[in-house]
Amino acid sequence: MSIEKAYNEWSSQYDSNKNRTRDLDKKVTIKSLEDLKFNSVLEIGCGTGKNSEWLQTKATQIFAVDFSEEMLAIAKKKISKKNVHFQKADVTENWHWTTENFDLVTCNLILEHIEDLEFIFEQAFSKLKTGGHFFISELHPFKQYKGTKARFNSGDKLIELETFTHHISDFLNAGKKAGFQLFELKEWFDEDSTDPPRIISLLFKKP
Ligand SMILES: C[S@@+](CC[C@H](N)C(=O)[O-])C[C@H]1O[C@@H](n2cnc3c(N)ncnc32)[C@H](O)[C@@H]1O
Repeated sequence: MSIEKAYNEWSSQYDSNKNRTRDLDKKVTIKSLEDLKFNSVLEIGCGTGKNSEWLQTKATQIFAVDFSEEMLAIAKKKISKKNVHFQKADVTENWHWTTENFDLVTCNLILEHIEDLEFIFEQAFSKLKTGGHFFISELHPFKQYKGTKARFNSGDKLIELETFTHHISDFLNAGKKAGFQLFELKEWFDEDSTDPPRIISLLFKKP
């Protein structure tokens, strides 16, 4: 099943089923960005708007993109403010859908579905203002090495989505190649376990 189709199917349960990665990512995003100043945000892979909801309390303008019609439909139901614009688009294709430059580009839990990391970094760099930030929060590669991946139950079937493993060095090298400076790298753990970190977050700056 294509990734787009899988998220269309997952959408009705995405917000409600047990998902520690989704829940931790929300905390990570707030903790990482609450002290950063930004007015305009480009959010890629916004899904059901879990993070758009918080971002719109801090920013004056949000442009949120996803290729799943059904995930977007839920996000639109949650957030109807005029300053939040939702757009259906595949971020593996040129980001021609906006000519604006933003203070912040965010992506959460989407890069595991994208093979060509360098393309995403190049596009993010081109859509940022000088001094702007690129924030990434993703399933930690250590978890991927142990077999964790995006999956959900549809009836009695377990649907596993196509994923790509990006090593920490891949993120750092793609950032450097695009022209970014690394501002912060953090690893986030489940509170009640001694397992490897669940999430990696990186904050890059466009110099
Ligand atoms: C795990 S969900 C994360 C949603 C949201 N960012 C969050 O943290 O809850 C991944 C999202 O990325 C979207 N996505 C995956 N590949 C994409 C692509 N190539 N272009 C646009 N959206 C994509 C999916 O449709 C899905 O909504």
